[in-house]
Amino acid sequence: MASLIISIVSITLLFFFKASTGSEVLATNHYNYNLNEKVTLDDQYSIDNLEKLFYTNKGITHDVFVKKIHSHNDYWRNTPLLDAISLGVQSVEADVWYFPENNDETVYVGHSMKSLKKGVTLDSLYINPLNAILKGSNNKQDDSADIIIKDHNGINGVFDTDHETTLYLFIDLKTDGNQLFDKIHSKFQNFCNNKWLSYYNQTSDEFKWGPITIIGTGNTPLDKVKNQGEIRYIFFDGPLNKLKEVSEDEINHKVSPIVSSSLRMLVQQLEITDLLNDDQVKNIKELVEIAHKGNMKTRIWDTPWWPVNLEKGIWRQIINDIKSDYLNVDDLVEGVEFKW
Ligand SMILES: *[C@@H]1O[C@H](CO)[C@@H](O)[C@H](O)[C@H]1NC(C)=O
Repeated sequence: MASLIISIVSITLLFFFKASTGSEVLATNHYNYNLNEKVTLDDQYSIDNLEKLFYTNKGITHDVFVKKIHSHNDYWRNTPLLDAISLGVQSVEADVWYFPENNDETVYVGHSMKSLKKGVTLDSLYINPLNAILKGSNNKQDDSADIIIKDHNGINGVFDTDHETTLYLFIDLKTDGNQLFDKIHSKFQNFCNNKWLSYYNQTSDEFKWGPITIIGTGNTPLDKVKNQGEIRYIFFDGPLNKLKEVSEDEINHKVSPIVSSSLRMLVQQLEITDLLNDDQVKNIKELVEIAHKGNMKTRIWDTPWWPVNLEKGIWRQIINDIKSDYLNVDDLVEGVEFKW
């Protein structure tokens, strides 16, 4: 319980915004807070500085190691992307909304329609900061000495300690999937041109990892994912629970480098009030093995979060027994600090 409270307090501290003069503070690095001290913020994580900081040893991902964690329910954080990557979390998710019928070309980010706000957008929360970070990690400046070495197909990723690690960006399409898909596709064209995205070349039949791997979920139409022309750079969140039923032609790592399911779908139960039994573990493990054989990573979401011993017990089963890849967490600090 004490650690839960500390987690809640610390994650709250991650949220401080500087609303006053100068550039907006996007996030505070988790190393910068101390529960015993009054938190003071400087503007070092302003968008202007995200790029510049990469040339120093103070970049937002400096000194943090990458963890196979998916930051679920990102929408309730003020700076979801930056909070996550500053903790080394490798996978993030944005719920996106689009209303072209109102002559509005903005792609909003939020959990529900009523939570949408002007200015809280895919650009402001994800595209602009990622653009700054990747510019920083891929440009050498005189004073950067030799710390930035281009080593991942010549392109560096967002994690300073491991440039070859991709960041999964799940984009959950909430409004019309066809319209939103086209919009998102065009928004990331530049990233693709810069070789900042994982992609599949349909002509050469090659999949290449890049700094960011975009995974469409929610209303993402599978046929649009499959028909992006020669280069596919938006992928499909494949159904882990159906891997025994769908054909390899339908779902494979060139379409779905990662597949997911809710735990409730996997066990076909409305509520999970107990640890998984041996049969359940075995069944899910078989699905995960099919995914791994096909070169696909796995994520199981919607796990119980209360009581805490059930939450943690299920995490252990999912990662240690079932051998699923990504731990899905709502509370980042709790996930990052969890002792296996
Ligand atoms: C895709 O593969 C084809 C065939 O090898 C090649 O000619 C083309 O340049 C590749 N496209 C990209 C963007 O890598």
